[in-house]
Amino acid sequence: MSNTWGTKVLKSFDSAAPHYNRAARLQTAMAWRLAGHCQRLPIPSGRWLDLGSGTGLLADAIEQRNPGRVVERIDGSPSMLAQNSRPTHTQQWDLNEPFLSGDDAPTLIASSFCLHWLSDPGTTLRHWFEYLAPGGWLVVALPVAGCFPQWHKAARQAAVPCSALRFPTTHALTASLPKQQIRHQQQLNFSEQASHITALLRPMQTIGAGTTARSALSVKQWRQLSTHWPDRSARGQVRLTWLIQLLVIER
Ligand SMILES: C[S@@+](CC[C@H](N)C(=O)[O-])C[C@H]1O[C@@H](n2cnc3c(N)ncnc32)[C@H](O)[C@@H]1O
Repeated sequence: MSNTWGTKVLKSFDSAAPHYNRAARLQTAMAWRLAGHCQRLPIPSGRWLDLGSGTGLLADAIEQRNPGRVVERIDGSPSMLAQNSRPTHTQQWDLNEPFLSGDDAPTLIASSFCLHWLSDPGTTLRHWFEYLAPGGWLVVALPVAGCFPQWHKAARQAAVPCSALRFPTTHALTASLPKQQIRHQQQLNFSEQASHITALLRPMQTIGAGTTARSALSVKQWRQLSTHWPDRSARGQVRLTWLIQLLVIER
């Protein structure tokens, strides 16, 4: 394992694997959206990879939209890989480590909700781009800076630390990619709501995405955060908005 942060992240996902699919509503929706993009691309035959595949939501969606294709599922968590519908097409690999370039370069690299967990998402994205075979495609989605505006505002107003994960900026992600190869980019907003903030944030804990570099908030700080949470609906529901970056890049 390459570093302490990476180890912590993988441990958390590994323990959550049996409950992942039940709570991963947004990840399931994004998997189908990305699979739709992949279906419309002229992807050459060859190796198709889902990097940071988790339980295989994206790989399964791509395979269902492209009958006869097999998508290899690569992830650092053995328990996540064990949940996959195709256990024989899984590989455990720490994505903080570069791939060794060989003869069998992939023609599709797809990845959803993974890059932001890695140590240097921009450099890794560039590496994935270079790893592709000529004419191959990179299709990725991940949350970016600007995600969770309500959480950040509540923390500022309550003067408590914001324990939300720091997401990369779109600029940092794309800075080292050749701009003319980016065929499609889009930012998508998704809002979730719940009766209170614990219920709003629970799905993240359930899927193992609760790792934070900050120390845990006290009960008193959580209460302060809740009191200052902006953007309540008329029925008092609290909202949380995700900002997701979608990128489609041709090698
Ligand atoms: C939020 S899950 C997303 C899973 C799947 N792509 C989906 O959309 O449902 C993040 C995944 O990234 C994997 N991951 C995080 N850090 C990793 C690393 N350093 N190497 C390999 N996989 C990693 C986790 O094990 C987890 O399965």
